[in-house]
Amino acid sequence: MKLIKHHAWGDVEAFELGYMPFGKPLMTSHFYIVDHLVIDTGIAHLRNDVISILEDRHPRMTILTHCHEDHSGNAAAIQRRFNIDIFGHPYTVEKMKRKIIILPYQRLVWGRAENTDVLLYPSRIETDKFRLKPIPTPGHSKDHTAYLEENQGWLFSGDLYLGDKIKIFRKDENVHDEILSLKTILKYEFDQLFCAHNPQEHHGKERILAKLDFLETIVGKSRALKEKGLPLNEIIQTLQTSKDTFVRWFTMGNVSYGHMIRSALFDRPS
Ligand SMILES: [Fe+2]
Repeated sequence: MKLIKHHAWGDVEAFELGYMPFGKPLMTSHFYIVDHLVIDTGIAHLRNDVISILEDRHPRMTILTHCHEDHSGNAAAIQRRFNIDIFGHPYTVEKMKRKIIILPYQRLVWGRAENTDVLLYPSRIETDKFRLKPIPTPGHSKDHTAYLEENQGWLFSGDLYLGDKIKIFRKDENVHDEILSLKTILKYEFDQLFCAHNPQEHHGKERILAKLDFLETIVGKSRALKEKGLPLNEIIQTLQTSKDTFVRWFTMGNVSYGHMIRSALFDRPS
């Protein structure tokens, strides 16, 4: 089953996409269009739909928040069809050149992103009406970048926010880098938080503050329990508020609550 929802917040249009070969989509992701600029590119399973949405909108440029396949899934197809440049972080440029190995669940839910040439973003992304500043925000991924339109108070935040509290974490995420990135973003002014999975029409800064408080609390509690001598698995059991059995099984251990605690205790800011 595929799901396509259209949202509009003033000049910002969003398309929320989801796919599952059987039953309802497990999660959806958004890509955004503003003044002919495409921000992220949707999932590869809905490639034809994304291209037909963009036909009416005459895209002139694409920017990527990071290389994960639910964001970069149609970058190559958009570049081919519309002959436009795609911009991203230096690490996105590198990653998108090579075939990215993805797990079966990623192939099932999103599909594979084709390789394509991504250009290093300039210090400002300019459209006729707007100017976006790329702000590196690593943690969720090394190449994660948020895009800020200061005059409008918009933050296109990719996967930086997701929710005030998160229950699952990828194996390759670094919670300390995420905390630093949230602090970086809080130095800027914005109100609308265009998250790729959970957009917030207002009070985006408060949402970022709530996420920061949550992650700092998790790190503090994890360290306190470790100092008491608890092993990792007992620390996870003590702090976990809901089960992640299905997601651990479905993602073959790539996503779990425990990865957040492990990162809190054993990762360092990079
Ligand atoms: Fe992601």
